[in-house]
Amino acid sequence: MSTIAKLNDRVYQEGDYDKMAIAMTLGLDEHFRKFYMDIVARELGKCRGKVLVIDLGAGTGRNVPFLRDRSGTHLVLIDLSFAGLMHAKRKFFKSCQVDYVCCSAEMLCLRDRCASAIVSSYMLRHVKLSKLVKELQRISKHNSTIVIVDFWKSHRAISYILLLLHLAILVPLFALVFSPRVFSAYSCLWKFLVELPDVRDVARLFSLLGNVKMLTFYNMIYVWVIKKQSRSRTVDSS
Ligand SMILES: C[S@@+](CC[C@H](N)C(=O)[O-])C[C@H]1O[C@@H](n2cnc3c(N)ncnc32)[C@H](O)[C@@H]1O
Repeated sequence: MSTIAKLNDRVYQEGDYDKMAIAMTLGLDEHFRKFYMDIVARELGKCRGKVLVIDLGAGTGRNVPFLRDRSGTHLVLIDLSFAGLMHAKRKFFKSCQVDYVCCSAEMLCLRDRCASAIVSSYMLRHVKLSKLVKELQRISKHNSTIVIVDFWKSHRAISYILLLLHLAILVPLFALVFSPRVFSAYSCLWKFLVELPDVRDVARLFSLLGNVKMLTFYNMIYVWVIKKQSRSRTVDSS
């Protein structure tokens, strides 16, 4: 089992991930999710018949309520953490439209061109981007929509410093209150930020898949909306 899967298993078993998600976004978690899930729902509205939607790195399934009631939508939640998926399964056990797969987003056990839409929130920083893009290219249908969300290193100094302070000071304080048993998992988040590549490099990599629109909340949380093109370029994941 990988280190990241072990760490996230601990977060989901011993911490309170859902409370931390709300605290870390200063109460705006629901608002952010509604914003990017509305983009997914709008794009799905243009599809005919049944659609398969994949949530990569789904965790406890916080994106699910925004699509669950959409008829004809089959959701597949994928995560490396078994505990996260079990948590989601307990929440949505009555829904026959949701499936759970424990595997890595870098090597998906899914058929080629099966997904009408893919969403992934706050997972990007954990994966090797070129491998992820290669898998996104393989499993997404032509003209499908891919929405990827994460906090990221802004090229604006002020936003970068504010986010760094938020992750280095406020998030550990919230962790002490809401998730003290897994404090260490949250206290090191700022280190991820320092190591991340520039947002523009990420957008350039995503443009191999199709047209990319980059939206942002306060220049801190980025939403990449990718419209897959039939003639996307080959990605070298080496
Ligand atoms: C910060 S949580 C976000 C969970 C959820 N998407 C959300 O928005 O609340 C990141 C999730 O990504 C998962 N993850 C990390 N690396 C992964 C990988 N290579 N493949 C699949 N899931 C991964 C972790 O297990 C964790 O559940």
